[in-house]
Amino acid sequence: MKQYQLYTTMGAGFESVVAKELQALAYETQTENGRVFFKGTQEDIVKTNLWLRTADRVKILLKEFTATDFETLYDQVYDLDWAELLPVDAKFPVQGRSVRSKLHSEPGIQSIVKKAIVNKMSDQYHRRGFLPESGNFYPLDVHLYKDQARISLDTSGASLFKRGYRIEHGGAPLKENFAASLLKLTPFDGSHPLIDPMTGSGTLAIEAALIGKNIAPGTWRDFAFDGFDWFDENLHQEAVNAAKTMVKELEQPIWACDIDQSILEIAKLNANNAGVLQDIYFKQLAVKDFATDLENGVIIANPPYGMRLKDQKTAEELYTQMGEVLSKYDSFSQYYLVGDPAFETFFGKKATKKRKLFNGNLRVDFYQYWAAKQK
Ligand SMILES: C[S@@+](CC[C@H](N)C(=O)[O-])C[C@H]1O[C@@H](n2cnc3c(N)ncnc32)[C@H](O)[C@@H]1O
Repeated sequence: MKQYQLYTTMGAGFESVVAKELQALAYETQTENGRVFFKGTQEDIVKTNLWLRTADRVKILLKEFTATDFETLYDQVYDLDWAELLPVDAKFPVQGRSVRSKLHSEPGIQSIVKKAIVNKMSDQYHRRGFLPESGNFYPLDVHLYKDQARISLDTSGASLFKRGYRIEHGGAPLKENFAASLLKLTPFDGSHPLIDPMTGSGTLAIEAALIGKNIAPGTWRDFAFDGFDWFDENLHQEAVNAAKTMVKELEQPIWACDIDQSILEIAKLNANNAGVLQDIYFKQLAVKDFATDLENGVIIANPPYGMRLKDQKTAEELYTQMGEVLSKYDSFSQYYLVGDPAFETFFGKKATKKRKLFNGNLRVDFYQYWAAKQK
């Protein structure tokens, strides 16, 4: 079976998390900024798209070369056997990106690459200049970094954070792969209880239930590779069927609370779509009233950020309540994703460890309070 040079992309700072997930799926990995490389067949393309919880996309690296002028870029791209990859009617948008390279105009790079492919395909398919682009989708990208060009084919299509279980509600939910990455930074593996006291639309609790039950996060969606005409069309369904046989019972409870009943209704719809509604205890509750008999688990939350002055005051009061109410559960490891650099002051306790992250464009910290004792 043909081996491909593959790589995954991910959010800034999550390279090691994605590499660990790939290693757990038995791949040898090589990490660089924003990418983790591995090798595999079509079966592996299916497996990684279906199972990776923390990555953004899985891509095939088609070619890598040095390019400091447009002529070289054109020739190197033209040189690839495009007819082997793209049918005559393929829709193939080219996304260009350039960082610290002589060729810096991204629109210019995109159009040269596109032109080289169109000309090569026109030659190979004996067409003159015009390609219909009315068929299936083959998303390509060209990335230049320090004059090294990489041409890739995206096998995922829509980013892997789009699992397909979430209904739109206009709030500010965490992306699913971001939530899963946060969970992977905790000791949570389903064998201990998990509590999200400010669950919103439930992303952390749902992703935790998927991990705990070993449900593949890509179960509900299609991928770009489904439309590639050279791709073995049985592989996807076979992998989904196999994944369904690997689902297990949740060993320990997951609690998801929020002060707002209407957002909890959305969380329940999302959990239902993900097939984990029966696995999560949803409860309308303000943090100040929180109490639990559970022990030795993980508390994880993404409290509201106070972007405006009035909200800032409310957020600070909430952080103080969190400190008063939650920090006494010291057999739990606790993890809070917060945008306020003064969080520890209001919470009343210095974090064991902090990790700088970006939630979209927002600079945030992941405050980690490790369990003081296991009971
Ligand atoms: C940033 S959102 C959480 C988003 C969530 N992680 C998601 O992915 O949808 C913060 C949540 O905290 C809840 N909240 C605010 N004050 C609260 C309080 N005092 N007690 C419990 N929940 C509260 C809000 O209703 C909101 O749903």
